[in-house]
Amino acid sequence: MTYQPGRHFLQIPGPSNTPLPVLAAVAKPTIDHRGPEFGRLGLEVLTGIRTIFKTSKPVIIYPASGTGAWEAALVNTLSPGDKVLMFETGWFATLWNKMAKRLGIKAEFITGDWRSGVDAAAIEARLREDKSHAIKAVAVVHNETSTGVTSDIPAVRRAIDGAGHPALLMVDTISSLGSIDYRHEEWGVDVTVGGSQKGLMLPPGLSFNAISDKALAASKTARLPRSFWDWEEMLATNQKGFFPYTPSTNLIQGLKVAIDLLHEEGLDNVFARHDRAAEATRRCVQHWDLEIQCRNPSEYSSSLTAVRLPEGHSADNLRAEILSRFNMSLGNGLGPLSDKVFRIGHLGDFHDLMVTGVLSGVEMGLRICRIPHRLGGVEAAMNYLSGNTGQVAQAAE
Ligand SMILES: Cc1ncc(COP(=O)(O)O)c(C=O)c1O
Repeated sequence: MTYQPGRHFLQIPGPSNTPLPVLAAVAKPTIDHRGPEFGRLGLEVLTGIRTIFKTSKPVIIYPASGTGAWEAALVNTLSPGDKVLMFETGWFATLWNKMAKRLGIKAEFITGDWRSGVDAAAIEARLREDKSHAIKAVAVVHNETSTGVTSDIPAVRRAIDGAGHPALLMVDTISSLGSIDYRHEEWGVDVTVGGSQKGLMLPPGLSFNAISDKALAASKTARLPRSFWDWEEMLATNQKGFFPYTPSTNLIQGLKVAIDLLHEEGLDNVFARHDRAAEATRRCVQHWDLEIQCRNPSEYSSSLTAVRLPEGHSADNLRAEILSRFNMSLGNGLGPLSDKVFRIGHLGDFHDLMVTGVLSGVEMGLRICRIPHRLGGVEAAMNYLSGNTGQVAQAAE
């Protein structure tokens, strides 16, 4: 491919754009991962990452993509044949469910419509039926990246408690951590799964398990085979800031800077900035008269918006056109949504002008591909962004 001048717009819903200070930290020379400098860095990031998950308990850092941390959550806490209750929010919930089955877990899947979040009432009803407490864990995705739907995790916690059920609660926050408010400890989550490449603004390659005391206790008797993912050895070596095997040294250098950047901005401001980009995007999409994949406004995602194309139009063709003409990558439709939706990532290192730039590229693409839409969506986004310098609730038109 010939060189395309100007900056590439990486607007997939993760990996997101990596800010320069983080890139610079990743590009620094690799240090000895068993030396004193790394020990200090390790302790700093292992403590710092807890503030992002909002927990006072340990967070494990793996040199792996998010899929690895999914596996780690399951194999550290469960035994062969254990039952797990999951909810079909979309593609990523489906993949986690498939993984659980491959690992020898009996994974039940409550059917969803790929347009809504987790139905906490359905979880509660199923747990109430489970009088013998055969279900050992409830595992759900906080922000379903394939659909742009965010689920109410405290409601899931209440459902488990309401049923008086002892199941562990596991939550995937791969596309919400650092973008959408999340509280591991306050919400009573036992294992939270995270990844580096989205709200944390790092390249892919690190993933996380934030663990509760209850999950740690479960790991003492869990019998699924595990070695690389084993929490015990990790926790032991992490005490002094080290890892049982070679960590992703350079990504950990970047992680320290990413955590600092998030705190410098303030987590609440980070979340408000994501809410604002998402709201501007939705106003634009709604003005175009295109449909948002997420059905329920209370479940709209602040890290991405999935947009449905009218029948007979190809989302993949639109994305290809936008990539070749405007040097912008948008997310594709996954599984049954393939070619039917495109996804706009508005997460990570992102500001207002990037929002309008992205939306302009999409609006021009719609024209080029002759996809029916009402002109002026970008203007609707600009009206919102220029009339509102702070909170979403103060929106002015
Ligand atoms: C919600 C969610 N869960 C899990 C994954 C899988 O993570 P990875 O691709 O980093 O292995 C992704 C990836 O996009 C995701 O968005």
